[in-house]
Amino acid sequence: MKQFDFAVIGSGIAGLTFALKASAHGRVAIITKRKGVDSNTAWAQGGVACVTSDEDSFALHIRDTLEAGAGLCDIQAVETIVKEGPERVQELMELGLHFDERDVAGHRELDLGREGGHSKRRVLHVHDMTGAEIENILLAAVRRSPRIELLENHMAVDLITAAKLGFATRDHCLGAYVLDESTGTVETIRTDRLVLATGGCGKVYLYTTNPDIATGDGVAMAWRAGAVIADMEFVQFHPTCLFHAEAKSFLISEAVRGEGGILRNNKGEDFVRLVHPLGSLAPRDVVARAIDAEMKRTGAKCVYLDITQQPREFLLERFPHIYETCLRYGIDMAKDPIPVVPAAHYQCGGIKTDINGATSLSGLYAIGEVGCTGLHGANRLASNSLLEGLVLAHRACAALVAKDPPAHPAGAVSLPEWRAGEVQNVDELVVIYHNWDEIRRLMWDYVGIVRTDKRLQRASARLRNLQREIQEFYWNFRITVDLLELRNLATVAALIVDSALSRKESRGLHFTLDHPQPNDAEFRRDTLLTRS
Ligand code: SIN
Repeated sequence: MKQFDFAVIGSGIAGLTFALKASAHGRVAIITKRKGVDSNTAWAQGGVACVTSDEDSFALHIRDTLEAGAGLCDIQAVETIVKEGPERVQELMELGLHFDERDVAGHRELDLGREGGHSKRRVLHVHDMTGAEIENILLAAVRRSPRIELLENHMAVDLITAAKLGFATRDHCLGAYVLDESTGTVETIRTDRLVLATGGCGKVYLYTTNPDIATGDGVAMAWRAGAVIADMEFVQFHPTCLFHAEAKSFLISEAVRGEGGILRNNKGEDFVRLVHPLGSLAPRDVVARAIDAEMKRTGAKCVYLDITQQPREFLLERFPHIYETCLRYGIDMAKDPIPVVPAAHYQCGGIKTDINGATSLSGLYAIGEVGCTGLHGANRLASNSLLEGLVLAHRACAALVAKDPPAHPAGAVSLPEWRAGEVQNVDELVVIYHNWDEIRRLMWDYVGIVRTDKRLQRASARLRNLQREIQEFYWNFRITVDLLELRNLATVAALIVDSALSRKESRGLHFTLDHPQPNDAEFRRDTLLTRS
């Protein structure tokens, strides 16, 4: 058994920032299932939405966030995160992050990007590789810290709770069982302050802008441990993922539309303008649905993002990563409209937390995409998530440090080791891969941008069968990362479907043909699920 003052699972912006702050107060473990850099953060192109300019204000950022959130944001969370943002961003700059600047009347100013739903330019960015820059700077600082142990290739299997061990006290998180991939053994990590920062669950869908690690591990583990899960029906589909047979999950940042890019159908028409006055820069849910409808109406396999009116030099300077990547696939974005389709991008719901990241399970915190503070409501405003990760990491650390560690009986006793039993190696990997594909395909077909009760019910029935089969695998075979991820994906898929089935209205990212209008009287509230 390894014991730490703090343990954080996940190594994106929230997890790394938390670890750095917590290391001032004790020993910290970062548990991450691949390399440290493998996180959603490293893939974030857009940037950090934050009020820094005289032309902007907290009131406007708050208003834009609430409008995108379609009536479900938690106003306290929105105000806190927006107002504390500038201080947290300043800390990131002090660690060495240089956001892009531009010359204005002889002096340098931050170059602010614009994205859908923002009434002002307010997105701090490093070209179109903001997340990668942030990740590198935080990881370098983590690696320099003697008080942080970075456990790479370690995947959390499950949380350890007092209730599971049969202690007759109020339930409390005591640590986690963690699979060390290099040895195949499961270690016991003991801590009274466990933070989940595992990111989202884009891989639950066939098409996603997320990296392979985004398998909903944190939500699935918290659910199994009995924590409250909120608003999982609100999955954000990014309108513009590169459409190319060989390009896997490549995002074309919304910032491209912020710089004048226009979505066009195969006749060259600006079709989003017909459904929203902001056209291609309308909130994401509107744009993704407009594309979905256009593709269904015309039978086209994609639509096109046209930024050919911008000079090549500008595109090379502002979007070097997107420019180079498109060129590798034979698309010169200075001349050719970019073929794009919507893809699953962000989990707006998650483990229900307060504004410090505290979950309903004592000793367990959740920060970043895995947590649901209420900032995003029914639809996240672009680039608010890196901001939330920074603010929540700071607040979670402060809240945990302010609390004395609980005087729990388990503090004195050691936790039981993981029992592998008589299990054998998985005999047929094909079953795992088949189930994995089946979940992702059925979620795409039945639980996508436009839903119906019937499709959701079909998905629910299929998922129950798959979950039974996966559970059998889990008990009978030696666990592997693939099997654990599959089990988590199935759990999260079922949570999305159950949440979607219970919301008999359309709001924000949840749109169903059977209940196409919002119903404030009954449904202007969070969808809360707890394992019974
Ligand atoms: C993008 O660059 O379009 C993604 C930004 C975000 O999802 O916040």
